[in-house]
Amino acid sequence: MLLVDKLVIPKYTPLIVVLDLYKKYYYLFITAVMNNLNELVSANGFVNVEVDPHLDLFAAIEKLKKEKNAIVLAHYYQEPDIQDVADYIGDSLGLAQKAEQTDADMIVFAGVHFMAETAKILNPTKKVVLPDLKAGCSLADSAPAALFKKFKEKHPDHIVISYINCTAEIKALSDIICTSSNAEKIIESVPADQPIIFAPDKNLGAYLNKKTGRNMVLWNGACMVHEIFSLEKITKLKHRHPQAKLIAHPECEEAVLNVSDFIGSTTQLLKYSQTDSAKEYIVATETGILHQMQQSNPFKTFIPAPPNNSCACNDCPHMKLNTLEKLWLCMQYELPEITMDEELRLAAKKPIDRMLQISRAAGLVG
Ligand code: 13P
Ligand code: SF4
Repeated sequence: MLLVDKLVIPKYTPLIVVLDLYKKYYYLFITAVMNNLNELVSANGFVNVEVDPHLDLFAAIEKLKKEKNAIVLAHYYQEPDIQDVADYIGDSLGLAQKAEQTDADMIVFAGVHFMAETAKILNPTKKVVLPDLKAGCSLADSAPAALFKKFKEKHPDHIVISYINCTAEIKALSDIICTSSNAEKIIESVPADQPIIFAPDKNLGAYLNKKTGRNMVLWNGACMVHEIFSLEKITKLKHRHPQAKLIAHPECEEAVLNVSDFIGSTTQLLKYSQTDSAKEYIVATETGILHQMQQSNPFKTFIPAPPNNSCACNDCPHMKLNTLEKLWLCMQYELPEITMDEELRLAAKKPIDRMLQISRAAGLVG
């Protein structure tokens, strides 16, 4: 407004010229505001402005969804409040499938960066926002593209199957993407005599080698949450709860998987807990999934598997950077937004499309 106030407009200036001048200053004002918001995002990972403590965030998010034709997609590891406002909650495969199918104008991705990036790869014309741009992934970080490129060059006759938990740059270096829901089917789609590099999760890779009888070359990456479970503490817990079944995500280490009653993606773990007849479960994955497990099985008991750390929590520090407040902020300001170089996007899309095709043909949904 100050900018506009300082305008000196000579008498008898035609109205059209006056309006044009105001328009110019209006754009300057908007640009200044946007620059300021973008600076806040660069410094904090989100638009760090104060939110009215009296604002009903649940109602405000619903209102923005309608006004902006936005869809909120959330991973099971998000905090319960976020899961409760989501239009769809799923595992990585389900989220990618939903992102591919949506006709919303804005995809609000309550998950981590590689997930929102995948949604953008599949939807270049849609706006994709993430509550906190700093919500990364230790597993994706464990495969820097330059090092992986050199590794790949050492195995020129191998094709690359990458777990979706990786950057767009790694996807662009891959032949097919997989998730924990469809990895076996994806591997089976490759001729048995074709050597494969599997990246970036060595635990999932080792588990898949065992399941499929392949001898995939594994990249040495891992997830900080799934690597931390303590076999010793789990064994003690099982003694105290002899009826409890241990259910685990395949990103866990082999020692934990070896003593598990069921292994699967987050959606598969949830479905198992709904259809299985046991009353008690020890859950070896991020604790966010317990919200849906408990909601759909109110009379069953779910115990988080104990980790080998002093805080005794299995929270993913990346997933848990997102909050309901940041979710509202990213919808309100449409920032932080995921943007991507077009050449990289097209290269990363190819192996994702292959994964989606194989999953469709096999009738797999996340
Ligand atoms: P899924 O939900 O696909 O099983 O993946 C788990 C995970 O670690 C996501 O970051
Ligand atoms: Fe990445 Fe592990 Fe967090 Fe999933 S749980 S986002 S794999 S660090």
